[in-house]
Amino acid sequence: MLTADDIATYHRDGVLVMPGLFSRAETEALQSAFERDAKIPGGHRITEANDTDVRAVYASHWRQPEFASLTRSARLLGSAQRLLDAPLYVYQLKTNAKPAFGGDKWAWHQDFLAWRLADNIARPRLVNAVVFLDDVTEFNGPVIFVPRSHTAGLVRRDRNDTARSAQHLDPDDIELTPAELAACVDQGGMVSPKGPAGSVVFFHPEIVHGSAPNMSPHPRRLAIVTYNDVANPPRPTGTPRPEYLAARNVTPLTVEDDVLAGGRA
Ligand code: SIN
Ligand code: MN
Repeated sequence: MLTADDIATYHRDGVLVMPGLFSRAETEALQSAFERDAKIPGGHRITEANDTDVRAVYASHWRQPEFASLTRSARLLGSAQRLLDAPLYVYQLKTNAKPAFGGDKWAWHQDFLAWRLADNIARPRLVNAVVFLDDVTEFNGPVIFVPRSHTAGLVRRDRNDTARSAQHLDPDDIELTPAELAACVDQGGMVSPKGPAGSVVFFHPEIVHGSAPNMSPHPRRLAIVTYNDVANPPRPTGTPRPEYLAARNVTPLTVEDDVLAGGRA
């Protein structure tokens, strides 16, 4: 699926955009699965400050076969295996929902800091695969990346004392300062990949990223599968986080291609 150029782009920039990787039928199947899943109560479902809008839903691949199939598709898993050149498992899967007229921002941050602090993961041997469940435009709060910011390691080392979230570690809790962000942007600039539903963005766990609130009339739902090298598992020192945040089964996944074809997964 990925060319040598794609792989080089990922390693150079920390972000790789693959437009239209999933068909309309497949994307509609995922949208329906998400709508079903977002109604299931539990700690895996995070709401916005108004306690009503869904901010994020974790581990849909345990409850919805469409998401389980997605994690094993050649287009995601096969590509991620090539980017990391290792056997992989799903460490975390979430959908950041950002509903119309209400999805809040995601503060500027680096994912690997969250995963090191929360789960004591040793190395940034992970890759995020983002699947657009909706068309992503300049209006509905696209993720903004700072290209090449993954090459300098972690910008900060700790989390704030006043945490927005106890366990899921909202980016607010590890937000870069304005000066830190400005220095990164001076070096790398900013990009915000946009495109039709079904497009995919691969991004590095140390790239600086964030997104603005969604004040448009259109939702911006992103399913984000985080694959980890099976040799790089969490090493919790105290009580491990709930498994919907940090999976404990590190059995390598195998590709099962075309399972989403025609939206029948
Ligand atoms: C977002 O959903 O806009 C943020 C994604 C992320 O932090 O990984
Ligand atoms: Mn993030």
